[in-house]
Amino acid sequence: MTVTIAGVGAALPSAVLGNDHFAPLDTSHEWIVKRTGIHTRHWLGPGETLADLAEQASREALADAGRSAHEIDHVVVSTVTPDRVTPGIAPELATRLGAPGPPALDLNAACAGFLYALDYGCALIETGRAHCVLVCAAEALSRITDRTDRSTAVLFGDAAGAVVLSSTGADGSERPRFLLGSDGRHTDLLYADLEDRVLRMSGREVYEFAVDTMAGQTRKVLAECGLTTADIDCFIGHQANVRILRAVAAALDIPQARSQISIDKVGNTSSASIPFALWQARGAGRLRPGDRIVMAAFGAGFVWGAGVIRWKATPNTAVQTQEETCPT
Ligand code: UT7
Repeated sequence: MTVTIAGVGAALPSAVLGNDHFAPLDTSHEWIVKRTGIHTRHWLGPGETLADLAEQASREALADAGRSAHEIDHVVVSTVTPDRVTPGIAPELATRLGAPGPPALDLNAACAGFLYALDYGCALIETGRAHCVLVCAAEALSRITDRTDRSTAVLFGDAAGAVVLSSTGADGSERPRFLLGSDGRHTDLLYADLEDRVLRMSGREVYEFAVDTMAGQTRKVLAECGLTTADIDCFIGHQANVRILRAVAAALDIPQARSQISIDKVGNTSSASIPFALWQARGAGRLRPGDRIVMAAFGAGFVWGAGVIRWKATPNTAVQTQEETCPT
């Protein structure tokens, strides 16, 4: 049994903040664009909830996949900023969508959370325990941003992205593959603690780890699948900094035309950044059925992930590409 991404959706809060908003913090539009690539970001306004964004993104993903909420048999939400301490967003999301009481959980793997959630969803389908899994990443980083600290305030945004994972029903064809990892020795380089509840980051150090790890893990997962950079139709890295994305693409020899950049409009939206960028790639007409998408992410923990999965693959797509299959 193999798995594909059958549909994608995304949602943003209505309030858009330009770089000029941060001028009182002794920063400038020029500095922010040059060092990060960010032009605007969206922050949740009064009365908006993360569940609202998650619902909107998930409804669009279901419509794109041509599936109804009744077909969902598992819901996973990646977030570090849920609406409440407990319960998580996933049960509410399932109910809002009208899904018939599926297992529903939130997970927190920081900026790599979407890839952890994808791996989990794919495993459920590959083992026959689910046929249709909704994976949503929803983040309101504005809730844990120190709005007085110019070194972090300018970076973060709020967004949700969702995908529907479904079985292609084709055994023996190319399976998704994910490499995940962690190293808890670097917790103090990026964290939000219980006392002040805002993100603190040693940006330069995190930058170096992010480039090396995302490039290294992507190289490794491609090698494990017997693939090369030439086999990538679309590369989507965690959108933390446009310079990180360019450095990773350069290290892997991925042409810019095949690397999706969306940080310019939304900033760093943690685990929502990859599904949001996927949604943008789809909207820009950059994805064709059967395309091979490669993703990489890195975040607080440290945690990281890299993975390969097909976009809207069908049994026919799988048969055509059977000679290049990943080892199982
Ligand atoms: O999503 C999870 C993973 N996160 C990441 O991967 C983020 C990784 N880090 C980064 O993207 C970058 O390190 C930042 C964007 C956070 C910072 O860029 P940088 O080029 O690494 O700058 P820096 O931290 O080395 O700081 C350079 C200078 C410093 O001034 P001095 O000491 O050289 O005088 C900072 O105080 O830039 C200063 N600075 C600013 N200046 C104007 C820091 N933030 C700002 C600012 N405006 N907003």
